[in-house]
Amino acid sequence: MTSTPARPMDRLARVPHPSVDVSAHFDLDNGLVDRTVFSDPSLYQQELRRVFAPSWLFLAHESQFKRPGDFFTTYMGEDPVIVALGRDRRIRAFLNACRHRGMRICRADAGATKAFTCSYHGWSYDTSGKLVNVPNQGDYPDHFEQDRWGLVEVAQLDTYKGLIFATWNPEAPPLAEALGGMTWYMDAMLDRDPEGTEVVGGVHKWALEGNWKLAAEQFASDWYHVNISHASALMVMSPNGKGPKDEIVQTPGRQYSDPLGHGHGFPTHPKSRFDDRVVHDWYDYDALRERLGDTRVEGPMTTGHATVFPNFSYLPVNGSIRVWHPKGPNRMEVWAWTLVDRSMPDEVKDAQRLYNLRTFGPTGIFEQDDGENWSECQATAHGFMSGSMTLNYQMGLDLQAEDGVHPGTTGRLYSDGAARGFYTRWRDLMNTPAWHEKPGKDTTS
Ligand code: FES
Ligand SMILES: [Fe+2]
Repeated sequence: MTSTPARPMDRLARVPHPSVDVSAHFDLDNGLVDRTVFSDPSLYQQELRRVFAPSWLFLAHESQFKRPGDFFTTYMGEDPVIVALGRDRRIRAFLNACRHRGMRICRADAGATKAFTCSYHGWSYDTSGKLVNVPNQGDYPDHFEQDRWGLVEVAQLDTYKGLIFATWNPEAPPLAEALGGMTWYMDAMLDRDPEGTEVVGGVHKWALEGNWKLAAEQFASDWYHVNISHASALMVMSPNGKGPKDEIVQTPGRQYSDPLGHGHGFPTHPKSRFDDRVVHDWYDYDALRERLGDTRVEGPMTTGHATVFPNFSYLPVNGSIRVWHPKGPNRMEVWAWTLVDRSMPDEVKDAQRLYNLRTFGPTGIFEQDDGENWSECQATAHGFMSGSMTLNYQMGLDLQAEDGVHPGTTGRLYSDGAARGFYTRWRDLMNTPAWHEKPGKDTTS
């Protein structure tokens, strides 16, 4: 799929916002983070402008769009967007806001349509975003240019092995470049099957009282909490009900830290697996070794956790892919899909879907533990003293290097390395004026 060019439009002025230099909130060489970055409202607004608006963000999976007119509504940061397959079979994404008074154009979660018609005054847009009907058009002046009032389209849209990403930033590097070295790790989930992947069973959505970074950071870097936070779940899942063996509790593994802020931790012990029996039995591990190589089958393909900066995360073992949508500094919405290989028989796909729900669905035995942690971390940040405390991210400091097996920089599995990488990227974006802050560069309407 090719990138979508920006639709040039002149726009009126934006209100200038003073930006804060966030350097003093971090001492990442020494593993220190000031908690204010999780709760301050003005930093949150800056984050929408400088982290979300310029970055490539995950939208949906290609398999959600089968026929022209199929659409899905989601968010990029807090911007509501419609993702739609046009009659030319091209996937586009637009702001889900009418050009007349800004009404939400599409109020459905997903579906199929020939046109998006605003329920306020009836302006109507086709699935390529073009304004195709304006009621009472005779009452507009002669110089009303209907062509100029189409939906506001993203600057670039592209896919990586079924995953659709977009950005508002016309200057963003191509998606493949933005994913960088992370693609080698992502392929351990996305490239097992020559037929590719698809999503099954719809999208689960739930709200949590926590800053989105708590979740994104944890999925990039945190195996550390597993033994403690998920102790009861591990006990339930152990064959004799007495709890997991040492090779699971003190498991060997690695954690990848990408210079672009992505991160991925994965155990490498063959017994440290939690996959569903039906799914496990279906896989042809010799063929997978042939396709992905031994290293990926024995590491990143198993029970790992990963974040693609900023807010897309996944779990290779159960096909959970999810977005942490920011909803203010103190709240996030989790939107989660189940990803499966296309050539799996239906019963195997279903086994994976149910396994994902049991473990990491909104009431999953692991997910509930994680959500409780993030909510309670946020709840203790509201006070002046507690909200500006320094937090410790020192685990694994000075222990990251090339290991000669896994590409890029890795460290021990039990490490804050990828979290430090995540906040290094976040800090740098927060301190860099985005394209829309440069004179004459802001072409999105
Ligand atoms: S706000 Fe959409 S037609 Fe008026
Ligand atoms: Fe967890």
